[in-house]
Amino acid sequence: MKISKLKLTNFRNYENLDLDLGKQLNIIYGENGSGKSNLVEAIYLLALTKSFRLTSDKHLIQKGKELAIVEGKIWKNEDSSLYKVNISNDGKKVEIDNNKINKISEFVTKIQIILFYPRDTELINSSPNERRRLLNIEISQIFKEYMILLSNYNKILKQRNAYLKQLYLYGNASRDYLDILTKKLLEYGKKIYKYRWEFISYLNEYITDVYEKIFGSGKLKIVYHSSFNKTEKELLDTYRKIYSKEMANGKTLLGVHHDDFEFLLDGNKLKEWGSQGQLKNAILSFKIAEINMIKEILKDYPILILDDLFSELDVKKITNILNLLNKDVQTFITTTELSKIPDEIKNKSRIYEVINGKIREENYE
Ligand SMILES: Nc1ncnc2c1ncn2[C@@H]1O[C@H](COP(=O)(O)OP(=O)(O)O)[C@@H](O)[C@H]1O
Ligand SMILES: [Mg+2]
Repeated sequence: MKISKLKLTNFRNYENLDLDLGKQLNIIYGENGSGKSNLVEAIYLLALTKSFRLTSDKHLIQKGKELAIVEGKIWKNEDSSLYKVNISNDGKKVEIDNNKINKISEFVTKIQIILFYPRDTELINSSPNERRRLLNIEISQIFKEYMILLSNYNKILKQRNAYLKQLYLYGNASRDYLDILTKKLLEYGKKIYKYRWEFISYLNEYITDVYEKIFGSGKLKIVYHSSFNKTEKELLDTYRKIYSKEMANGKTLLGVHHDDFEFLLDGNKLKEWGSQGQLKNAILSFKIAEINMIKEILKDYPILILDDLFSELDVKKITNILNLLNKDVQTFITTTELSKIPDEIKNKSRIYEVINGKIREENYE
C-alpha cells in the first residue's frame, strides 16, 4: 500500500500543498516547528480519520479558516483510489473516490499505517488505558469487526454500570436484567479478548527477531493480561460472585476494559528491570514487528511513519531498522538534521525540505 500524492488545504500550517511522494523512502527535514509532523499527521489522518496527537479536530484547521481538506491518492496493488477527509467546525466527512463513507469502521480498515513518534516511548510507563488504546487502534486497522465489537462492548458496559448503581439504590430491582447485561458483556468481551490474544500471539512470532536485529541481543516477548482468559461459564460464575461488590462500587469490576500487556526481555519484566532505552526499543520493535504481521494477514504492507526518530535513536539503530524493511514498505522519516542520515540511505530516498508550511523537494546526488 502506498500514497503517491498528498494534497492539503488549510491543514495546520499548510495553506495549499500538492505533493508527489516516493514509493520507498521519503525523508522530510526542516527546523523545529516548520511542519514536518503536520505533514505526516495528514497522512495518518487519511488512514485513521484522527490525529495521533492528543488534539481536537478543530486544531487541524488552519487558524482563521473554516475548512481543512486532506486528500491522498492511495495505491493498493495496481489500483488507486482518492481518499479525502474534510474537517470543519461542524464535524468530519470522509470520502473514497467521491463516495461518502458513513461507517468509520469501514474507513479505518482501508489504509494501514504504522506510526512511531516520540511520545510513544511513554507507553510502557503510562496507564494501561494508553496501552489498550494502542491495541485498539492497531487491531481496528486490520479487522473491520473489531471496532464494532468495541463500540458494542462499551455501550453494554455503560448500561451495566448504570444498572449496578440502580440496583444499589433500589435493592429490589431485578437481578435477571443484570444477568442479561452480563451475558451480553461476556459475548462481546470474549470476542475482543480473542482478537487481542491473536494479535499479540502474531506479534510474538515476529518481535523477538526484530528486536535482536535492531538492538543486538535479548529475547523480547509480549505478555497479554486479561481477566477474560476463561470460559464464558467460569466468567459468569465469577461475575455472580462479585455482583454485590460491583453494586457497592457502582461499576463493572471485571472485563476487557481492564486488559493490559507488558514486555519481557529475557524473561524479565521490562517495566521493572528495563532501562529507559530498553523500554523505548521494545515499543519500537512492537511497531516494526507489526509491519510483517500486517503483510501476512492482509497480503499488503502498511505505510510506515517514523516521526522524529533521530531524537530517540542513534544512526546505527535507525540504519538497522531501514535495512530490515522490505523495499516495498513505503516509509516516511522526519528529522531536523539531514546531515545525520548516512549517504547510503539518502541515495535511495526522496528528500523534502519543509520551510514554514511549504515544501521543496531536493535532488540529492
Ligand atoms: N491550526 C493551525 N493553524 C496554523 N498553524 C498551525 C496550526 N496547528 C499548528 N500550527 C503550526 O504548525 C507548527 C508545528 O508544526 P509541526 O509539524 O509540529 O513541526 P515540526 O516540524 O517540528 O514537526 C507550529 O509552527 C504551529 O504554530
Ligand atoms: Mg515534529
